[in-house]
Amino acid sequence: MGTGERMYELLDFQPTLSDLRMEVLDGLRRRQKQLDCKLLYDERGSALFEEITTLPEYYPTRAEMEILRKHSREMATYIGEKSALIELGSGSGKKVRLLLNELLDPVAYMAIDISKEFLQMSAESLASEYPNLKIVAICTDYTQPFQLPNHPAKKVVFFPGSTFGNFDPPEAERFLRRWSRMLSKGDGLLIGIDLKKSIDGLHWAYNDSAGVTAAFNLNLLTRLNRELDADFQLERFDHYAFYNEVEDRIEMHIRSRLAQVVTVGNVPVHFGLGETIHTENSYKFSVHSFNELAQKSGFTPVKVWTDSTGLFSVHYLEIG
Ligand code: AVJ
Repeated sequence: MGTGERMYELLDFQPTLSDLRMEVLDGLRRRQKQLDCKLLYDERGSALFEEITTLPEYYPTRAEMEILRKHSREMATYIGEKSALIELGSGSGKKVRLLLNELLDPVAYMAIDISKEFLQMSAESLASEYPNLKIVAICTDYTQPFQLPNHPAKKVVFFPGSTFGNFDPPEAERFLRRWSRMLSKGDGLLIGIDLKKSIDGLHWAYNDSAGVTAAFNLNLLTRLNRELDADFQLERFDHYAFYNEVEDRIEMHIRSRLAQVVTVGNVPVHFGLGETIHTENSYKFSVHSFNELAQKSGFTPVKVWTDSTGLFSVHYLEIG
């Protein structure tokens, strides 16, 4: 009751600076330089992503919010009463409120995110809005194995935003398999999937006219300058995003505008003219291709909702 009492529990498994350094140097030593997209989400990166979700060209958030607004009551009947909701990449927590408002006596909400500042802010405001709900904030990279807090309730994993599209096909299958093993019979997965569409629409969603996506991408270099004592000069790099039709994915890169040597800590990294760092994949699916993948990974498709323009789908799946 005292004012000093924590209103939510924080489990902090945030990767350390030396983890970051090793991961980055590893990625920059490859023939195709690459950095994992989770590195885009420092505090500034998370804020820039929130700004992306409001851009006219960036349709996924609007389409998914439309689906959640229209169908959250029906989703709540699938999730069932007295369930524990586990959200991956919880971000601002805007979407889960739509579900929480419809759920019958939810017993717990566990938010998992790599961005600690963001996670804490959103856990804190949820805790004050839902005083009867047990809230657990877990700061971790959810693509790595981790121990889920033990809870006897039915568990439903909420993975909105089409973040699932960041996984390449083997990672996607591994991710679904791991969750199908971590969950029990009757537990569920509610997941947002970005659907295949015109290449033009996709292109502008990742090349917005206000340049916010470019700022989001290049902020990664600012982060490396700050946290790893690197000396990237941002005006020497470009944002580069395109749809790869063969792989059904948007690829986001940072492209060097000239031949140059950058140092990361005290390690020199060479860039050729036009050479890129691959920073993100965003795979696009059909309802069928996603269901097929989920099915071979241990989930049973139960229900699919799409938005009125057919851009995005939300799937409920169960462990049979
Ligand atoms: C948060 C991974 C769903 O792939 O659309 C937005 C990230 N990258 N603009 C996406 C992102 C560039 C976003 N996800």
